[in-house]
Amino acid sequence: MQTKNILGIDVGASGIKGAIVNMETGELVTERIKFDTPKPSTPKAVTKVIAKLVKATGYKDELIGCGFPAIVKHGVAHSAANIDDSWIGTNIEKILSKATKRKVVATNDADAAGLAEMRYGKGKGVMDSVLLITIGSGLGSALFTDGYLVRNTEFGHVYLNDQVAEHFISNTTRKKLDLTWEEFGKRFNEYLEHMERIVSPDLIILGGGISSRFELYSEWLTVKTKVTPAEMFNHAGIIGAALYAHENQH
Ligand code: BGC
Repeated sequence: MQTKNILGIDVGASGIKGAIVNMETGELVTERIKFDTPKPSTPKAVTKVIAKLVKATGYKDELIGCGFPAIVKHGVAHSAANIDDSWIGTNIEKILSKATKRKVVATNDADAAGLAEMRYGKGKGVMDSVLLITIGSGLGSALFTDGYLVRNTEFGHVYLNDQVAEHFISNTTRKKLDLTWEEFGKRFNEYLEHMERIVSPDLIILGGGISSRFELYSEWLTVKTKVTPAEMFNHAGIIGAALYAHENQH
């Protein structure tokens, strides 16, 4: 069977990253390219950066996957917590397809990261309930039961201690409040215990920027459920975006 390589793009609050991904192995076949997310991160400004990124990767094929930090339904953004508000109601797939002259399939960034980990990483072959939490500028989530994804769970927006969870614990909050790793770990543990009460997962996988620094705060994660950092760390978003496009070329 011929290997299919697809360009995956991960749009985040601070960076827009992309690489071509081998769909059989889940490995990056090109170096990851990263550009800063423009400020303000309006559709026009972000689209321009994505078009530049596609060019920079040298990608020649037709299909592109894009993970986006919002509720994404049928290609349309329905929220915008970590990206400019003007995205709400915008058809991400339409505007990116037009700008890149390719077919772009968009999905929530955490759902994308979760798919990658379920297919090629720590969730591979795990049935039962797996909860992936991405922790970076925002707090994202992906929930799987017997390998099936429940899209757009947005567990970063549940209420915890009278505030939106991602305001209580995220990398943005860590920097803003200058939290020590112990304080960060304890807050994160409180959040994970809350999630445990809600969805009773069998495994929690941590993705996003801060998952690669797991050993700095893991000793304070005393939640009963097993917690493990993503195998692909921050690359999971790119890999999953490509994978989602590969499997959902509507
Ligand atoms: C957004 C989610 C996203 C997460 C991580 C949250 O603020 O609401 O859609 O998955 O940030 O980027």
